[in-house]
Amino acid sequence: MGMLKSSLAFLVLAFAFFLCFIMSAGDGSYDYFQFVQQWPPTNCRVRKRPCSKPRPLQNFTIHGLWPSNYSNPTMPSKCTGSQFKKENVYPQLRSKLKISWPDVESGNDTRFWESEWNKHGRCSEQTLNQVKYFQRSHAMWRSHNVTEILRNASIVPHPTQTWTYSDIVSPIKAATKRTPLLRCKRDPTTNTELLHEVVFCYDYKAKIQIDCNRTAGYPNPQAISFQ
Ligand SMILES: *[C@@H]1O[C@H](CO)[C@@H](O)[C@H](O)[C@H]1NC(C)=O
Ligand SMILES: *[C@@H]1O[C@H](CO)[C@@H](O)[C@H](O)[C@H]1NC(C)=O
Ligand SMILES: *[C@@H]1O[C@H](CO)[C@@H](O)[C@H](O)[C@H]1NC(C)=O
Ligand SMILES: *[C@@H]1O[C@H](CO)[C@@H](O)[C@H](O)[C@H]1NC(C)=O
Ligand SMILES: *[C@@H]1O[C@H](CO)[C@@H](O)[C@H](O)[C@H]1NC(C)=O
Ligand SMILES: *[C@@H]1O[C@H](CO)[C@@H](O)[C@H](O)[C@H]1NC(C)=O
Repeated sequence: MGMLKSSLAFLVLAFAFFLCFIMSAGDGSYDYFQFVQQWPPTNCRVRKRPCSKPRPLQNFTIHGLWPSNYSNPTMPSKCTGSQFKKENVYPQLRSKLKISWPDVESGNDTRFWESEWNKHGRCSEQTLNQVKYFQRSHAMWRSHNVTEILRNASIVPHPTQTWTYSDIVSPIKAATKRTPLLRCKRDPTTNTELLHEVVFCYDYKAKIQIDCNRTAGYPNPQAISFQ
């Protein structure tokens, strides 16, 4: 009887360890990075409340650098890496990020960086610590100027003109030699698809840009508006 009890206890313990193992497996397992840039006027357009500190908004700016999984498109999250420390964004880096990675919605840039790090950055901490995460993101932003690539292809904000998905992807692909992804948001008042985000994909080490591949069930809008 005592023997049975202790082997039962052992089984329970073993199972608990097994659960811990399964649950921690979400940490640090990702396949590639998505570097997501956004067009701030679209954020402000679809937002229920107005953007708090409207700035001159003519650049694509960073939304985030997301470690991502091919098999699980919901990507890793709730990882156990370190919490954001604002000292890691030292003054020189901070002044760069204020241009490349502003919080256009509520105006608190530090809080935006904090939430992106805590939600996504922590999941790839073994590859990019906090300082590197923000430095690398800024370097990615600098490496290709999406605003200029589009402008050179005569794709500039316009109140009524629309473009197809490939009209917009083509010049970006030509400039970067890699396939990007586009994400749109529907304007609730006019029912038009507004260009919102341009996604670049990077390899596991966040060093080499790679082709993005589309996740199933995401239809390309036929007519995309850029305003
Ligand atoms: C991500 O993918 C890797 C391998 O492709 C897998 O081992 C890991 O469990 C996945 N992580 C999550 C959170 O889905
Ligand atoms: C756009 O980026 C350029 C280059 O970094 C910067 O000089 C300019 O101030 C930015 N414009 C806005 C409105 O943030
Ligand atoms: C995307 O491409 C990668 C690398 O080529 C491949 O391993 C992966 O299976 C692809 N995923 C999907 C969803 O097509
Ligand atoms: C901005 O966000 C940071 C980080 O969450 C917080 O410490 C700070 O108090 C906020 N600043 C303002 C003005 O709300
Ligand atoms: C990107 O290009 C736009 C349009 O040419 C320009 O206004 C902006 O300053 C450029 N940004 C950077 C970071 O060079
Ligand atoms: C945009 O066009 C200008 C003028 O032809 C050129 O100097 C610049 O390199 C182009 N920029 C991009 C990002 O293609």
